[in-house]
Amino acid sequence: MFIKNKKILIIIGGGIAAYKSLDLIRLLKKSNNEIKTILTKSGKEFVTPLSINALTKSKTFEDIFDKNSEAEIDHISLSRWADLIIVMPTTANFMSKLSLGKSEDLATTVILASNKDILLVPAMNVRMWIHKATQQNVKILKDYGYLFIGPEKGEMACGEYGDGKMSSPRQIFAYINHYFNKRDLVKRKNYKALVTAGPTREYIDPVRYISNESSGKQGYEIALALSKLGIKTTMIIGPSNLITQKNIKTKKIVTAKEMLIEVKKSLPVDVAICTAAVTDFRPTIKNKNKLKKDLNKMKSINLEKNDDILEYLSKNNKYRPKLVVGFSAETENLNKNSISKMKKKNCDLIVANDVSKQGRGFNSDYNEVSIIDNNGNIKIIKKNKKSYIASKIAEVILDKLLVNDRNFN
Ligand code: CTP
Repeated sequence: MFIKNKKILIIIGGGIAAYKSLDLIRLLKKSNNEIKTILTKSGKEFVTPLSINALTKSKTFEDIFDKNSEAEIDHISLSRWADLIIVMPTTANFMSKLSLGKSEDLATTVILASNKDILLVPAMNVRMWIHKATQQNVKILKDYGYLFIGPEKGEMACGEYGDGKMSSPRQIFAYINHYFNKRDLVKRKNYKALVTAGPTREYIDPVRYISNESSGKQGYEIALALSKLGIKTTMIIGPSNLITQKNIKTKKIVTAKEMLIEVKKSLPVDVAICTAAVTDFRPTIKNKNKLKKDLNKMKSINLEKNDDILEYLSKNNKYRPKLVVGFSAETENLNKNSISKMKKKNCDLIVANDVSKQGRGFNSDYNEVSIIDNNGNIKIIKKNKKSYIASKIAEVILDKLLVNDRNFN
């Protein structure tokens, strides 16, 4: 089904492929979408405002300080107006500006001020595309959450062959359709997600506790990524320095017991993702006063097991979420141990990460994970920022939810 009544802002960049933006505008207008455009200074070298206006039936925005503009502040009103922003073609230079967070003209300022998804459509010479600097910028931009389509392999305007050709207006149109259809479906389904995150602390006395190195970052990023996909997300998080986000219902807890209480209160949900590094044991008694340095009394601490929250969720008869996702922190036999953990805990997916490797996992901004399903399929997401890993995990979760629903509806 073709999308309609969407508000799309197209930023036309400076490249030989700029003229193809007119075809995309035509396709989007034909299915009754509203289009506004920004023409960059170099874009103007390739297409004229007149040809754009003829198609969009509205003015093309060009300058950041436009005396004739009706809107009070264009860069804010344009970004708030749009449901999606597209930059086509996206040049290597434009990407480098975005990766630096520049706001030097209307296009870059709108993007920096935007609270919407931004789809980049790269087009450039193959050497420019594969240059380390460009690839580094792509990595940064993906981490910032920019969406990409293409570039494709093919012959370029300069006569060379390789990656760098802009995706065709039809491919972009299909991408946009898929993007909105999926979002609209998620909205209709009104999915709810629960994420456990961070460590728990199990107190020995008022100042000492048993805990672990978890920063809560991976779970926090997953909660953000799910909410960005339109899923109503509740996060139950142990002690961490992360800033709470307006769009995520956040419940802060300290102990595993408190985490389980909040989990129970948050049910029912469609999907539960247990990223928390729940401390497995707690002291049988928490001393009321600070313990003194008396070795005779402190030879050992009696411990008891905390309930397994993931297991509670996946074996819950009344409120089992449609999808239960576990995490598995291992230092050896990553896949084998994670698969047996998934079976033992009866979850549907397990995200395995090797916590023995330097520079990723606990207390790091980076991670590398394998997503394993209960048919034994393994999807590896190579080392990257936790925010990027989270967006990939969230996509897999959403796809599984949608497939599940299709099978059961
Ligand atoms: N988990 C949980 N409640 C617990 C312990 C673990 O919900 N009391 C969840 C974690 O959030 C994670 C999964 O179980 O999703 C696996 O946690 P992990 O620490 O890797 O394994 P454990 O089950 O604790 O087993 P072990 O420490 O022996 O590897």
